[in-house]
Amino acid sequence: MVTLDLPTINSRFGDFQLAPNGLVAVIGTLIGITALTYLLSTIQGALTVRNKHHGSRPPKLPYTIPLLGHLPEFLKDTLKFLARATAEYGPSTPVRIQLLNRHMSLLKGADAVTSLFKSSRDLSSEHWLVQVLVNAFGVEVADAPFYLADDTGIANQPDPRSNMTNPEHRIFHLVFKSVHSGLSGVSLEEMERQLVRNLSSQIHQTDFQSDSWTEIPDLYGSLFRTVAFKAAVVSLCGPNVFEVIPTFDKDFWTFDSALPDLFKEMPRWLAPSSYAARDKMKDHLHKWQTFAHERYDVKQGQQDKREWEEYFGSRLMRTRHEFFQKMPLSKETIAADDLGLIWAATANTVPAIGWMLLEVLQRPELLQRVREEVAPYVSWDSSDQSQMVVDIPNLCSRPLLQSIYAEVLRLRSGTVINRVPTSNDFHIDGWHFKKDEQIIVSTYDTARDQYVWNQGSNDNPHSVEEFWPERFIVYPDNDNSGPVLRSIAQQQPKNTQNAKISEPTFTLDGTAGSWIPYGGGTRMCPGRHFAKKEMIVTMAMFLTAFDIELLVDEKSGIQPDLGYFMFGVMHPKGKIPARIRKRRFG
Ligand code: HEM
Ligand SMILES: *[C@@H]1O[C@H](CO)[C@@H](O)[C@H](O)[C@H]1NC(C)=O
Ligand SMILES: *[C@@H]1O[C@H](CO)[C@@H](O)[C@H](O)[C@H]1NC(C)=O
Repeated sequence: MVTLDLPTINSRFGDFQLAPNGLVAVIGTLIGITALTYLLSTIQGALTVRNKHHGSRPPKLPYTIPLLGHLPEFLKDTLKFLARATAEYGPSTPVRIQLLNRHMSLLKGADAVTSLFKSSRDLSSEHWLVQVLVNAFGVEVADAPFYLADDTGIANQPDPRSNMTNPEHRIFHLVFKSVHSGLSGVSLEEMERQLVRNLSSQIHQTDFQSDSWTEIPDLYGSLFRTVAFKAAVVSLCGPNVFEVIPTFDKDFWTFDSALPDLFKEMPRWLAPSSYAARDKMKDHLHKWQTFAHERYDVKQGQQDKREWEEYFGSRLMRTRHEFFQKMPLSKETIAADDLGLIWAATANTVPAIGWMLLEVLQRPELLQRVREEVAPYVSWDSSDQSQMVVDIPNLCSRPLLQSIYAEVLRLRSGTVINRVPTSNDFHIDGWHFKKDEQIIVSTYDTARDQYVWNQGSNDNPHSVEEFWPERFIVYPDNDNSGPVLRSIAQQQPKNTQNAKISEPTFTLDGTAGSWIPYGGGTRMCPGRHFAKKEMIVTMAMFLTAFDIELLVDEKSGIQPDLGYFMFGVMHPKGKIPARIRKRRFG
């Protein structure tokens, strides 16, 4: 994710007035300048690549407009721009990008990306994180110095170079520890149980019939998205969010659609509704936090042996509010920080669940196979009609379900991962990256790297742009199966293909640095274990409970909404009409 100085451009270039004659001359000159700039930057880039030596800076992507750099192209069509940057100078040469006064390098190639993730010690994301918390989620500017004063790092031991002495103010470490322990082990298992419990009751309460179809105008927006979001929030924060704020679901998605404006640092007067959507969410969360604090004393949090209780929900949430109370932060900032966590916990998973269901429902034969894989592990509880029983570990180990999960994240995630070197001595592959200058990686483009991904055979092609449900399955009798090219699969240390598998097996072998929807290294998404369970379990429960037929135009298919590109998993675009009925047998 990248932030821009839009207001600066407006004020600098906003008040030009030109006479018509002068205009022709100016345009002529500008064309000359842009052609020359393009030519010079192309030559310069090519020379950098040819004369590369240890310590060279990555070549700059050719551009046409002095001062602005790549900004106009970037703003016009970010997806196309990153594709050009990815292609320029070949698959593994990083390129430098200039967006007005900000410079950054796009890192490419699986090995380089893997090196980046392994170099966590020399990189930081804290400053960038604070920028995101302030710009996007609305942490108060007055509280930013508190975050920035914490230079102790995320590790248990504070960084020896730091002077900060109060352990209760180590906000990055405390957050890091709480999300990692809260999203693993027994805490994670309890969140999974709460998820299934809430999904069951929501599914049970729908008023669809079993003997007749109900037509709904928007399967994703009014059913999948709502149900999946509520269940996810209840497992994290408990059910009272929705009791205290009945419009929480609707208001959250309005905020989510405003995020691109906020990330781009659009000023409030240019995007008033985006800021209003965020203010509303902050108010909501503050209301909920007050409600919960009045009924539950977080100071007793560690004595309370329950992994989940109704006021703060998960142990993760309870632990956060215990340490927040000891920090001199405003209530607005604490609400904004929670907004950030709730966004991280739902804004990718919920659209990804939508895609899993929609990809399967678009392919009747696949639907049949998925139902067969799901059936042994999901059923209605014979003693409680409102509950489904799910064997989560075994369900989530099925090869086809895992492959569909991985393929959805490969195809639909458009995140830009961000790291900043903390010293002036940072190198990857002999290229030098400057201190404090962002290094970015585009998950959308690494997921389409033709030098890595298996695209099927001549008689059975599966382009990187295609949803191929079996892409991540290795078949014992088929050397051309599996996610990556054979040459790459054979280099893998514990090569599944040589390991003489006897049945179809899910694998991510060979995709390190290419399948990176969760980022990598010490900052890798701590929610990935929960996300995987959530995606597979929710799909399985929906397909067990309902028969669904899509009423969309077959030819065009369902497309991603590119308005969300750069901000994680993209939502399906437009309304998706469908008809639905309850299944008689679970
Ligand atoms: C399909 C679902 C998800 C995707 C694609 C995803 C993706 C990501 C990515 C790309 C990052 C940044 C990683 C990096 O910089 O290397 C991240 C960070 C994070 N994610 Fe997720 N995520 C998902 C689900 C979740 C869930 C379910 C939770 C919590 C319940 C969660 C909590 C977090 C947190 C707290 C961070 C910040 C970690 C840090 O800064 O150290 N995520 N996620
Ligand atoms: C830490 O303290 C030393 C000595 O008092 C000082 O020189 C240095 O600037 C301080 N560093 C920070 C990050 O405040
Ligand atoms: C499920 O979530 C909804 C909020 O959408 C809540 O009203 C309901 O009480 C929850 N049910 C269970 C069993 O947790």
